[in-house]
Amino acid sequence: MRLDSLSTLNYRNLAPFTLAFPAGVTGVFGENGAGKTNLLEAAYLALTGLTDVTRLEQLVQQGETEAYVRADLESGGSLSVQEVGLGRGRRQLKLDGVRVRTGDLPRGSAVWIRPEDSEMVFGSPSGRRAFLDSLLSRLSARYAEQLSRYDRTVSQRNAALRGGEEWAMHVWDESLVRLGSEIMLFRRRALVRLNELAAEANAALGSRKPLTLTLTESTTPESYAQDLAARRAEELARGSTVTGPHRDDLLLTLGDFPASEYASRGEGRTVALALRRAELELLAERFGERPVLLIDDFSAELDPVRRSFLLELAASVPQAIVTGTERAPGAALTLRAQSGRFTPDGSAVQDGSAVQDGLSVEDGATAGDGTAVETELPPVAGVGA
Ligand SMILES: Nc1ncnc2c1ncn2[C@@H]1O[C@H](COP(=O)(O)OP(=O)(O)O)[C@@H](O)[C@H]1O
Ligand SMILES: [Mg+2]
Repeated sequence: MRLDSLSTLNYRNLAPFTLAFPAGVTGVFGENGAGKTNLLEAAYLALTGLTDVTRLEQLVQQGETEAYVRADLESGGSLSVQEVGLGRGRRQLKLDGVRVRTGDLPRGSAVWIRPEDSEMVFGSPSGRRAFLDSLLSRLSARYAEQLSRYDRTVSQRNAALRGGEEWAMHVWDESLVRLGSEIMLFRRRALVRLNELAAEANAALGSRKPLTLTLTESTTPESYAQDLAARRAEELARGSTVTGPHRDDLLLTLGDFPASEYASRGEGRTVALALRRAELELLAERFGERPVLLIDDFSAELDPVRRSFLLELAASVPQAIVTGTERAPGAALTLRAQSGRFTPDGSAVQDGSAVQDGLSVEDGATAGDGTAVETELPPVAGVGA
């Protein structure tokens, strides 16, 4: 997978730009607040259609109402254009000019590694579930569909519980058991390979303690119906569904202990990196192509083993973008980030624009053919339409 170029308009603090990315590593360095994380966030959104920001308007530049990102991609020898328009609470996707849903975009196109990943290890089960669900949803469109049906069923069932609608429970339970069991079985199957890959990555990170991933399940497909019946009174009293895969945890065991409670900060960071490499390898196996790798703030990684692990991982994919407060070694291209603008390192900056070796960094959006376009939202961003 290759990101040929990325364009953004009204995206957070980023000045409108089209950046061409070479194969290999692109290093982006600059001070805090320069827009490095925002660049990776925009790239991840354009590549996958995904964001973990719940209030989409946060992504839109202050004072504007709509934002736009575009990725020109190369995959298996063919080119495609992915566009995302953002407005208040709305996100619109286009693939080659045609409106699509997230599931229609290529699902193995990017992996994003960032300092916050440690929260997966030390935070609540919901973060680990989100990691697992997001990965499995990319591996299988069926999983994504069943999971969203399941989540909807849980909310509707909770409303019925709060309304004291005991008489309706058998209907909700039937859907819950059917969807929930499929989710549990899928998770169990996927975990076999995920476990192997995470253990390998953990060893490659020089960890002497073995890492194992296990599901802590609140029920089983076989006993789900009985477990729901057994806790009916409690659920009615609480007004919420307390049994099922939405309550399960991905237990990370390092050595003999759960990493969430016993790992040191450094060990936790190693576990998080092992999970991300496992994610990358699993997507590569599933789709037969290595994703674009986005690494945020490699320079925050002070441990030499983890730092070289990150840089080696970046070198193992056809293309990576690596940010930091210092220059990433071995980069094919180095960009300096400053106040939401990105200019080739060492090039003269005039009026915020620079052109070097076919790389154009211009103060204004450009069309794919390099001609300037109006700094107005392209049609895709007409999210109000
Ligand atoms: N919607 C927004 N509109 C304008 N500026 C924003 C918006 N969201 C974030 N910012 C600004 O972006 C900057 C952070 O950029 P970031 O990419 O996190 O920097 P860093 O280079 O440290 O990774 C902050 O100064 C923040 O105020
Ligand atoms: Mg940052």
